Amino acid sequence: MTAALGEGKKGDRTQSLAAIRDALGARSIVLIGLMGAGKTAVGRRLANRLDINFVDADSEIEEAAGQTISEIFAEHGEPYFRAGERRVIARLLETGPQVLATGGGAYMNADTRAAIKRNGISIWLRADLPVLLRRVQRRDHRPLLADGDPQVVMRTLMDERYPIYAEADITVESRDVPHDLIVTAVVDALAEALGRKQRPADQAEPSKVR
Ligand code: S3P
Repeated sequence: MTAALGEGKKGDRTQSLAAIRDALGARSIVLIGLMGAGKTAVGRRLANRLDINFVDADSEIEEAAGQTISEIFAEHGEPYFRAGERRVIARLLETGPQVLATGGGAYMNADTRAAIKRNGISIWLRADLPVLLRRVQRRDHRPLLADGDPQVVMRTLMDERYPIYAEADITVESRDVPHDLIVTAVVDALAEALGRKQRPADQAEPSKVR
C-alpha cells in the first residue's frame, strides 16, 4: 500500500510521514536560515518525527577541523571556514535521506545551493528580527556576533541573505512558539510540496508556504 501525501488530520499523520519518506528517496531535507532561526532545534525534532538521521553541518565542520567554529574563524579567518563549510556540506549531501541543518551563511555559496538543489529539498526557516535577536542573545558562540551591535549585524545579514534564502523550495515561518509546532508546519509543507512534485501532470515548483 502506498501512503498518501498531504494528509492533514491526526489519524493520517503516520501515513503522511511515511509518504514523505517515500517521496524523499535518498535526498536530504536541508534547513537554511539565519542564526537563531531554529535550524538545529527544529531539524532534530523533524528527523525524529520522520524517523531519519539528523546531521548538523556546523558540528561536522568542527569535528573535521578538531576546532570550534570560533577557533576556526580566529585562527584561519572566515574564507577558510567557508571553504571547509562548502566541502563538508557537499560530502554530507551524498548520504540521504536525512535532515541536514546548515549554518546561516552556507546557502549563500552558489556551489552549495546547486548541490542542495541536486540532492535535497531546501526549507528556509524564516524569522523576524526580534525573534532572532531574542534567541541569539542567549548564546555567545557565534563569531559573527562577537563584535559590534547584534541588531545591526543581524539586520545587515537579513538584507544580504533573505533575497537568496527566498530561492529555497519551501519557506516556513519560524515563530516564537514551541519547536514542535514549527515541525508540524514543516511536515505539512513538505507533504504538500512533495505531493505536488509527485503528480506527473503537475510540473509546478513546490509552493512557498508561510
Ligand atoms: C554563521 C552561522 C553559524 C555558523 C557560523 C557562521 C553565519 O551557524 O555557521 O558562525 O554566517 O550566519 P548558525 O546559523 O547555526 O548559528
